[in-house]
Amino acid sequence: MSTVTPHWTTASLPDLTGKTIIVTGANSGIGLEAARAFAAHGAHVVFAVRDEKRGTDAAATVTGSTEVRLLDLADLESVRRFAADWSGDIHVLVNNAGVLVPPFGHTRDGFELQFGINHLGHFALTNLLLPHITGRVVTVASGAHRSGTIDFDDLNWATRRYGGGSGAYEQSKLANLLFTLELQRRLEASGSPVIATAAHPGMAATNLMSSSENPVMTAIAKVAVRLFAQDAASGALPTLFAATEPVPGASYAGPGSRREMAGPPVLVGRSDAALDPRTAARLWTASEELTAVLYPAAELKGTS
Ligand SMILES: NC(=O)c1ccc[n+]([C@@H]2O[C@H](COP(=O)([O-])OP(=O)(O)OC[C@H]3O[C@@H](n4cnc5c(N)ncnc54)[C@H](OP(=O)(O)O)[C@@H]3O)[C@@H](O)[C@H]2O)c1
Repeated sequence: MSTVTPHWTTASLPDLTGKTIIVTGANSGIGLEAARAFAAHGAHVVFAVRDEKRGTDAAATVTGSTEVRLLDLADLESVRRFAADWSGDIHVLVNNAGVLVPPFGHTRDGFELQFGINHLGHFALTNLLLPHITGRVVTVASGAHRSGTIDFDDLNWATRRYGGGSGAYEQSKLANLLFTLELQRRLEASGSPVIATAAHPGMAATNLMSSSENPVMTAIAKVAVRLFAQDAASGALPTLFAATEPVPGASYAGPGSRREMAGPPVLVGRSDAALDPRTAARLWTASEELTAVLYPAAELKGTS
């Protein structure tokens, strides 16, 4: 673990005037606070949200240049529409939206909800938007990736016991980091100036537990949040750091204190599983097959 900039705050953000930044799930929690900080520093921030009213209400609380566009990551048709409607450069894409331990269910395309929304939706979105991206792709993972494993025989939990869903969340968050690793490898191989980074917020008080309908897990989470969580604005700092600091590709930022639960952002470590290039490549191929979206090697900006 290395500390790049101690006591990094939103005041450390550069001037982002003229930059367009897309934040998925920008209507709530970490996404909203990241959007607020980007806009306060001059960026034009696109709130990519699944509910227009929630997006518009949230954007109304932000000072600066914002725009709301519909994106349901649980529906590949919506993802394709969002990308097809896009024109112009994207400086940063922040893959932030996520669900945590919802009751077992499927996206419109038949993927288990957490794998489908947290990983596959963002996988498809990123590859479809890559021809427009000039700067970075930042993906919000979680410390929960450390307990995750990728089961290539049952990515969508058709045969495994779903239980409360924490295993599926952990798999999806490990997938976020493997996605970042393989995306960075591909960008480098393509000679692209774009980099892929990742971040995690530690534990932050947001609406994340609202997807759970398990009263026991919700009660435990409430107590843990009351005891240990930082506020959503602090939880957004690693995302802001990963989006703007001069860090190497595939860097992973998280809070630097209290066992990565809170504190100013620094570069942090990750599990060995999250650094395995063979699993990352295999997951990429599986994700291409499931979504029918491919890495757009021939269409990248800044490559010859
Ligand atoms: N809070 C933490 O302690 C913590 C810890 C580790 C990692 N994370 C990660 O941080 C990220 C942000 O979560 P948060 O804590 O800020 O929770 P949050 O307040 O619940 O925000 C999640 C956002 O994702 C959106 N979303 C969910 N499903 C979507 C879909 N199908 N299409 C588009 N957007 C969708 C939600 O939209 P709606 O409002 O419409 O539901 C909401 O805007 C997640 O990736 C999460 O895994 C959070």
